[in-house]
Amino acid sequence: MEGSSGLGMVNCRAKGGSPGFKVAILGAAGGIGQPLALLMKMNPLVSVLHLYDVVNTPGVTSDISHMDTGAVVRGFLGPQQLENALTGMDLVVIPAGVPRKPGMTRDDLFNINAGIVKTLCEGIAKCCPKAIVNVISNPVNSTVPIAAEVFKRAGTYDPKRLLGVTKLDVVRANTFVAEVLGLDPREVDVPVVGGHAGVTILPLLSQAKAGAGSATLSMAYAAVKFADACLRGLRGDAGVVECAYVTELPFFATKVLLGRNGVEEIYSLGPLNEYERAGLNKAKEELAASIQKGVTFIRK
Ligand code: NAI
Repeated sequence: MEGSSGLGMVNCRAKGGSPGFKVAILGAAGGIGQPLALLMKMNPLVSVLHLYDVVNTPGVTSDISHMDTGAVVRGFLGPQQLENALTGMDLVVIPAGVPRKPGMTRDDLFNINAGIVKTLCEGIAKCCPKAIVNVISNPVNSTVPIAAEVFKRAGTYDPKRLLGVTKLDVVRANTFVAEVLGLDPREVDVPVVGGHAGVTILPLLSQAKAGAGSATLSMAYAAVKFADACLRGLRGDAGVVECAYVTELPFFATKVLLGRNGVEEIYSLGPLNEYERAGLNKAKEELAASIQKGVTFIRK
């Protein structure tokens, strides 16, 4: 039996006794959700981890819960358990919905994912209106405006607490630039601004996995880095700066300072060269249409 060694010593720690934050992952049984759950279970800032999906959460939860880290893991299956999954959460991460298949754009996902994000955000407004919300479900350019509209309707909207996750674009840009320049990617920091689709991604370095489907493992990695930054901000750490799709212009991906209330400060873009200025104009045009699409979906 594990722990019954000759030394007869078992190192015990009270379950759930460690200080930390309560985090829910909605869409936890998916390609992103599963590795994201695994990585969140390893995060010492997390004391409780709720895994919600419409399929397969009992198995995923049981598997993840066997990891001998501090966070207590609970699984929730189907809409009737959504409220229990959300109650009391400090941070909700949403990778629920369908991913792109070869030949599809992120916008092609709108019709399915818009409804999923709407329903999940209605649950958040009801059960944990103060939680920081990280939206991963695509098209992020439209699903974040959908979330904002749902929260406005419910009277719980706080722009500081709603963030679209564009961290994958930053992670990719850092990796590609480091490769070209022969650097350690950990030493590279490329801000990627605009949005999270096509020409709205500035600079346009996000070409990985073309035609082979959507990113899952690198997205889970990016999502957990971003969620960790949100938690460090909530804890009160100084100088936590990340790129995210936030409620500016009215929505735009840019560098933000994260703190106890979510987004504490939105940084300006800084000086742009001619190429970037041209890209920015194109990005704003497409972004405006994607934002409107999300807003119309809720208001219609
Ligand atoms: P997946 O299909 O492997 O997993 C999605 C999960 O969501 C499934 O387990 C499914 O059962 C669940 N789900 C569906 N409807 C639900 C509902 N109503 N409530 C809760 N869960 C529900 O897809 P994958 O690869 O994990 O991608 C998820 C989303 O993330 C997609 O929309 C994809 O486009 C997006 N994505 C976003 C990126 C970003 O940078 N923001 C990068 C890569 C993907």
